Amino acid sequence: MDTPSGKTVLSGIQPSGSLHLGNYLGALKQWVELQESNTVYYCIVDLHAITVPYEPTEYQSRVLDATAGLLAVGIDPERSTLFAQSQVPAHTELNWLLSTTTPLGELERMTQFKDKQAKQREKSSLGLFAYPVLQAADILLYQAHAVPVGEDQVQHIELARDIAKRFNNRYAKIFTLPEAYVPKGAARIKSLTDPTKKMSKSDESEKSYIALMDEPEVIRKKIMSAVTETEPVFSFTDSGPAVQNLLQIFAAVSGETHEAIEKQFAGSAYKTFKEALADVVIAQLTPIRERYQELRADENKLKEVLATGREQAAAIANPTLAAAKEAMGFLV
Ligand code: AMP
Ligand code: TRP
Repeated sequence: MDTPSGKTVLSGIQPSGSLHLGNYLGALKQWVELQESNTVYYCIVDLHAITVPYEPTEYQSRVLDATAGLLAVGIDPERSTLFAQSQVPAHTELNWLLSTTTPLGELERMTQFKDKQAKQREKSSLGLFAYPVLQAADILLYQAHAVPVGEDQVQHIELARDIAKRFNNRYAKIFTLPEAYVPKGAARIKSLTDPTKKMSKSDESEKSYIALMDEPEVIRKKIMSAVTETEPVFSFTDSGPAVQNLLQIFAAVSGETHEAIEKQFAGSAYKTFKEALADVVIAQLTPIRERYQELRADENKLKEVLATGREQAAAIANPTLAAAKEAMGFLV
């Protein structure tokens, strides 16, 4: 879809592990831009993140880390509603209502479920299976038109759209049909150690991803040791997958065109290219890391931001929930 303007936008991110360059280029950069000319809701999806093993005694800290991270990348609470999912009970209530009209077969097709289930085997829970229904509730409560996400989430947004359609046909036309808004080029940033996998914070190897809060020397080391193909060819179409990934990162971070980048590095050694890539990534992430450290130090301020967000979010979500319940025949 074209860049939304004058629309309602909602997205979510899990408070698990550190935010990484894939999150930033695939989603968060768009979140920041969309604040300019849309009504935006950004949700820290703490109920989603407990569908895989987590540590309860550290969980409050993880949610505050995510809050500080989102503020550090440029989410502005004056222009965005930034809140924690578990603090707005309408999400879990709509989740139940929607689950009763979602066919099992549709959930069984979700690739994220299949991947996560394969990793957890018999430990995987009903919550992990129902994950996309809760995600649909997140989106539909705010009547979002556009959902900025990386490519891995498109299937979930399409399911949310189908859930909304089914509800509107069966009961009453309550929900806006949402659409995914996926950035060009940076929609799927790959692991630095294995370009067949996406960059992910749950990867065992820390070398595979660049965390937004990594120190400059760490970023440089990770980039210098990123895998490449044998021949140094710099082409967005003809390089191997590892180098194409590094080129995509260069383009997304620097904002330069593919042609300019190919021209700049034609005939260069990998070392020269990687040094230049490290320079642009470090220049982009350093101010984010510095702002994060400052923001993370003031927990009361972070909690205040979430308290304001929670009220603003509930003021929109509760009436939508009431309308859905009424349409389903409940006493409200
Ligand atoms: P998560 O960290 O799974 O909560 O994802 C938060 C957002 O970042 C979602 O919109 C994802 O689609 C996006 N995202 C996660 N990993 C990547 C990646 N490697 N490349 C691009 N986008 C990503
Ligand atoms: N499932 C998303 C992810 O893993 C996170 C998410 C939860 C989300 N609710 C959402 C994204 C609503 C967009 C809209 O990245």
